[in-house]
Parts: sequence; C-alpha cells; structure tokens
Amino acid sequence: MVKLLYPTSLTLNISDLEGFSVSLHPYDVKEPIPEDLTDAEILITWTNTASNLKDAASRLKNLKWIQSLAAGPNDVLNAGFDANKITITTGSGLHDHTVAEHALGMLLLAARKFHEMRDYQTKSPPEWPQHLGGPQPDRPKGSFTSLRDANVLVWGFGNIAKTLVPSLRVLGANVTGIARKQGVRDGIEVYAEDKLPELLPKTDALVMILPGSDATKHALNAERLALLPKHAWIVNVGRGTSIDEDALHDAISTGEIGGAALDVFETEPLPTESKLWGLKNVFVSPHAAGGRPQDAERLIAENLRRFLAGQGLKNVI
Ligand SMILES: NC(=O)c1ccc[n+]([C@@H]2O[C@H](COP(=O)([O-])OP(=O)(O)OC[C@H]3O[C@@H](n4cnc5c(N)ncnc54)[C@H](OP(=O)(O)O)[C@@H]3O)[C@@H](O)[C@H]2O)c1
Repeated sequence: MVKLLYPTSLTLNISDLEGFSVSLHPYDVKEPIPEDLTDAEILITWTNTASNLKDAASRLKNLKWIQSLAAGPNDVLNAGFDANKITITTGSGLHDHTVAEHALGMLLLAARKFHEMRDYQTKSPPEWPQHLGGPQPDRPKGSFTSLRDANVLVWGFGNIAKTLVPSLRVLGANVTGIARKQGVRDGIEVYAEDKLPELLPKTDALVMILPGSDATKHALNAERLALLPKHAWIVNVGRGTSIDEDALHDAISTGEIGGAALDVFETEPLPTESKLWGLKNVFVSPHAAGGRPQDAERLIAENLRRFLAGQGLKNVI
C-alpha cells in the first residue's frame, strides 16, 4: 500500500485522511526518516530541518509527491529532490487569513504610527508623544495617515492578496495589484511589472506578497524605490529576498520613502548587525505573519484524492 508520511511538528486531524487506500505514518521532521518508511511515495512537510529534507531527498527513492504546508516551500526546493520524478505542491491558501491580518495590522501601524507611540512609552522616563495625539489635520497631502483614499499597491496578487483586499476596500483604500499576468481579479485592476514606473509614484503604501525565487530577487531595488513618494511605506509579508535591503535602508535613512514594516528578511533571524534595526521608521516583525497552516487536512485530502485518481494536483509549483 502507498505510504504517506505526515509530520508531527503540527497537530493534524488524521481521521480526516482516513478512508483512502494509503497507510498513514507520523514522522519527526528533525530526524532522518526511519528505514522502514523510506519506501514512502508521499511526504507532507512542515518546518522540517534542512538536514531532514536533504536526507529524505537522498533516501526516499519511491517518492512521487511532496505536499508542503508552507505557502513558499523554499526549504523543499533547496533540498535536492529530483524535480523530474517528484511533484511538489505548496500550502498556498493555508495562510491567507493570518498573513492578510498581519499585513493589515502593519498598514495600520504605518498610518497610525503605533510603533512611534510605543517608542515613547518605553523611553526612560516615558514620554507623551504629543505630536501624534490631539487634533490632527485629516489626511494632509503628501502623507500616509489613513487607509481611506490611500493608494495601496499590492505586488504579488495571489491567495493572500485576495483575502486582504476586502478589508482594505472596507476602510476606503484604492487598491491596485501587480502580478505576472495582467487582468481584473476580484474586481481589482492587476497589472504586470512593466506598469510599475507609472504606479509607484502614485503609491502611498506598497504591500509586497511575492514568493521567493530567482525571478523575484531584489524586485524592489534602488531604482524602483526612487520612484515612490517620500511618504510611502512598504509592507513586506512575502519573502525577504524580494527587497534589496541595502537599498531599502538607504531610501529610508535619506528620507526618500516614509518607512517599512517588514515580516520577512533576506537573512532570518535578522542579524544583529543589520542596519535596519536602528531605523526609527522600520518595524521588525519576526516572520510572524503565517506559521500556523489553517485547514491543512482539507488540502491534503483533496490532493490525496487527486493523486490516487491520477489527476493533476492543486498548488503544483
Ligand atoms: N510571512 C509569512 O509568514 C508568510 C506566510 C505565508 C506565505 N508567505 C509568502 O507569501 C508568498 C505568496 O503567498 P500566496 O499564497 O499569496 O501565493 P500565490 O497565491 O501563489 O500568489 C503569488 C503571487 O505572486 C505573483 N508572482 C509570482 N512571481 C512573480 C514575479 N516574478 N513577478 C510578479 N509577480 C509574481 C503571482 O502572479 P500570477 O498570479 O500572475 O501568477 C501571484 O499573484 C508565498 O510564496 C510565501 O513566500 C509568507
């Protein structure tokens, strides 16, 4: 019988996977796969160590399908599995709500300056940030103080973006998207990257939700940062490699843009020597947006049904 290995690094409701003609086997994502399981055809991964995946790539000779529960399974892609023999599917869709919520929180932080208020609270002695309180001008020109009427550009318009958009609209933002293919999606104009020179100068907040790949490496570079208005904020909940961090540091420290709220970094954890830590208008979030796949059993069961029926799988890389 086909063996399916599932990780014990999260609690899966395994009874949802029963009834298929496969045998289900738990495994430890931090240890080499036990010898009696190396003939498995299906591997579910979540937070596996690099050594576990490298070992699995060399010893699981019958493997046909890997279902990662991460939306961006860079760990699996870098482990040396034979891409000609093995289908890799992502956990895209399992993190939509958590990451969309985090992105919304970061946008509100940027507009409402919660980070700056907290900075004043933790001064010794604490200080009342008078400039942020009391009567304020309503959405002064050349500022990002509210999502109402703000131009929000979402770069990487996939599942997470589509979950975020309704909240942005409800708060009155004008949302535009960038993806590989242009067209209207969920009522939003989505353009290809060639439109960036026109869109970036009008952007109040740029939300990056790009996957990590060679094609997206340093997608946001010095040249593109220079096109943004001085008050613009960046939110990144995709992958850190999509932003040139040196260029970002320079753009923020010279006042070329307003600031950045970042959940992902080129190197994680963000090294203590990173210059980003020291910038007042940089908010560091420790890759906290996702990290808790929701309804994973449903995706695994759907793909398992398709796998056993010889049909195409969902979320193939
Ligand atoms: N911070 C966290 O904790 C966390 C959690 C989950 C996910 N993530 C990251 O978020 C990423 C997106 O997740 P998702 O579920 O929304 O993925 P998704 O549904 O696959 O969407 C990815 C989007 O990126 C676009 N894209 C891909 N390559 C591109 C390129 N070279 N240039 C421009 N656009 C490109 C795609 O364009 P098309 O639609 O035209 O193909 C698509 O719109 C994941 O890959 C993962 O790295 C982070």
